[in-house]
Amino acid sequence: MKILRTLAALSLVLAAPGAFAADKVCKLEINSTDQMTFDKKELVVAGDCTSVELTLHHVGKMPAAAMGHNWVLTKTADAQPAANDGLSAGIANDHVKKGDPRVIAHTKIIGGGQTTSVTFPTSALQKGGAYTFFCSFPGHIALMKGTLKFG
Ligand code: CU
Repeated sequence: MKILRTLAALSLVLAAPGAFAADKVCKLEINSTDQMTFDKKELVVAGDCTSVELTLHHVGKMPAAAMGHNWVLTKTADAQPAANDGLSAGIANDHVKKGDPRVIAHTKIIGGGQTTSVTFPTSALQKGGAYTFFCSFPGHIALMKGTLKFG
């Protein structure tokens, strides 16, 4: 009886392999500087990643109030409008409008010497899609932006 139950459970597993596929967390890192730059213009997420853990380092020395940086991901067409709305959101909200549906993921704002990270599911992205990442600290999107590709 016990063997039969084991066999039945095993056949369920075999019948639905997708439901038991392992999660694959893919890690990305990017540096930001006192010169208002990111060190990468392009980030690539492989198509089999189920989630992304993005780590942002601020390798400069200036405080967040003067040269704060975050990492915000949106569709390319949404980047500038979302950055505009982030201006009035204030640094207390990391210059991201609260509940902004255009923002796929974002970190908090950090200053020199600090590190932060954000994890988000790739279910928010389309295979073959290209998205824009940027810093939403006022004025920084002009220099601090790049492309994230998925798949
Ligand atoms: Cu910035």
